[in-house]
Amino acid sequence: MIDLSTTEANLAKLKETLGPQNSDFKAMAAVQANLDDNINQRIKGILAGLKVKVDAFRLHLDSLASAVDHARTNDAFMTEQYRPYFAAKRRLDDLQKLRDAVHLRILQETVDAALPKTSIVEITDQAEPGRKPVSPSFKLNIALGIIVGLIVGISLAFFIEYLDTSVKTIDDVERALQAPVLGVIPQNVSSLILEGSESPHAEAYRVLRTNVLFSRKREDANSLTVVSGGAGEGKSTTIFNLAVVFAQNGQRALLVDSDLRRPSLHKLLNVSNSVGLTSYLLRQNTLEEVIQTTSIPTLDFLPSGKLPSSSLGILNSTQMKDFIKEAKRRYDFVFFDSPPIMGVSDASILASEVDLSLLVIQYRKYPQAMTIRAKQMVEKVGGALLGVVLNNINISQDSYYYYYSGYYYDYYAKREEEPPAKNNGEKKKPAGERAQLDLKQKY
Ligand SMILES: Nc1ncnc2c1ncn2[C@@H]1O[C@H](COP(=O)(O)OP(=O)(O)OP(=O)(O)O)[C@@H](O)[C@H]1O
Ligand SMILES: [Mg+2]
Repeated sequence: MIDLSTTEANLAKLKETLGPQNSDFKAMAAVQANLDDNINQRIKGILAGLKVKVDAFRLHLDSLASAVDHARTNDAFMTEQYRPYFAAKRRLDDLQKLRDAVHLRILQETVDAALPKTSIVEITDQAEPGRKPVSPSFKLNIALGIIVGLIVGISLAFFIEYLDTSVKTIDDVERALQAPVLGVIPQNVSSLILEGSESPHAEAYRVLRTNVLFSRKREDANSLTVVSGGAGEGKSTTIFNLAVVFAQNGQRALLVDSDLRRPSLHKLLNVSNSVGLTSYLLRQNTLEEVIQTTSIPTLDFLPSGKLPSSSLGILNSTQMKDFIKEAKRRYDFVFFDSPPIMGVSDASILASEVDLSLLVIQYRKYPQAMTIRAKQMVEKVGGALLGVVLNNINISQDSYYYYYSGYYYDYYAKREEEPPAKNNGEKKKPAGERAQLDLKQKY
């Protein structure tokens, strides 16, 4: 088969070599023209065939498109038509499911109902309330409470007693202080002037008075003071009542309130202390102006007077020493009250200047060490510690002290109950009357 491109190449070659008028060249050109014509004829035929096919396909396509449109329209119509049907179908399905569930439940209940229950739970005995509670056990708890309470209470009492180092017995005092106990003063003591000489308490002070008189080494030792480690142990009460029993015995006694910082004796006598020892020592008044009498003819009282802060050391002056000498000369006995020995020097000074000192110890109030220190302080300043007075003892409860004061207490307590008898030719005065104090300037 003759190729068109080869023919064109040959023709171009021939045209160059032979020239356009050559017969070969012309023949070849005619062949080429013939070929071109044939090709064009064939292409036209193919194109016509293809066009027919395209038309046929287009027609088919149109018919398909219209079929689709029709189907779509039909489908929408059908969907609308079947909507109630599908809704009803869904509802039917739900109801069927519900029916199945109910059916299953009915079956279960039927099976449960058919099962013989008596074989599972059986009442064998009727429950009855108990006659006594299982817990708490009243008797056991009471018994345990008593036992535990007793053990704890007793242990606590022993423990507290162990911790308490205060003075408790006469032996304690005599062992710790190496000093004799000269008196045991009971509780509830007040002024013996108010209580009267027949008061059961007075006897305790009379025992103290006798012991003081027999314990002193010299007959002329007639000035006495009281000291104590702590405050409020009963110094003022003791010295006051001791002075009263000395005076009631007929001895001329002077009671001096030399506790200048906290004077209290004037309150016991219910008198003023605006002038007194300090006014005399500061030479503002004479002795005669400051000494007062009391309802007991042989007892005189010298109040403290006011204490200017500039004269705090006044007890340590020569005037005081002279005053003590003068008082000792004028009276059979002179009694000096004093402040606690621990805080201020006044008590040490007094203890060093007077003849005799009594250490007052309040039962169970302060630790023993404090009392021992008080005694050492008296000895350090050269004071003569005569002995110890135990104060505020509960004699009715503490049989240990009974023999010190019990006999007299019972004896006088009985006499108190008896009808009032004549006393030294005079009727016994009622307590209220005895309480009235006959106080006036002595001179
Ligand atoms: N034996 C006692 N019975 C009852 N009360 C007492 C007894 N001894 C002291 N008192 C009371 O205790 C308190 C203190 O006593 P008192 O004033 O005699 O102690 P004090 O040692 O002088 O005190 P201060 O250190 O303050 O001078 C007072 O109210 C007193 O009445
Ligand atoms: Mg006092």
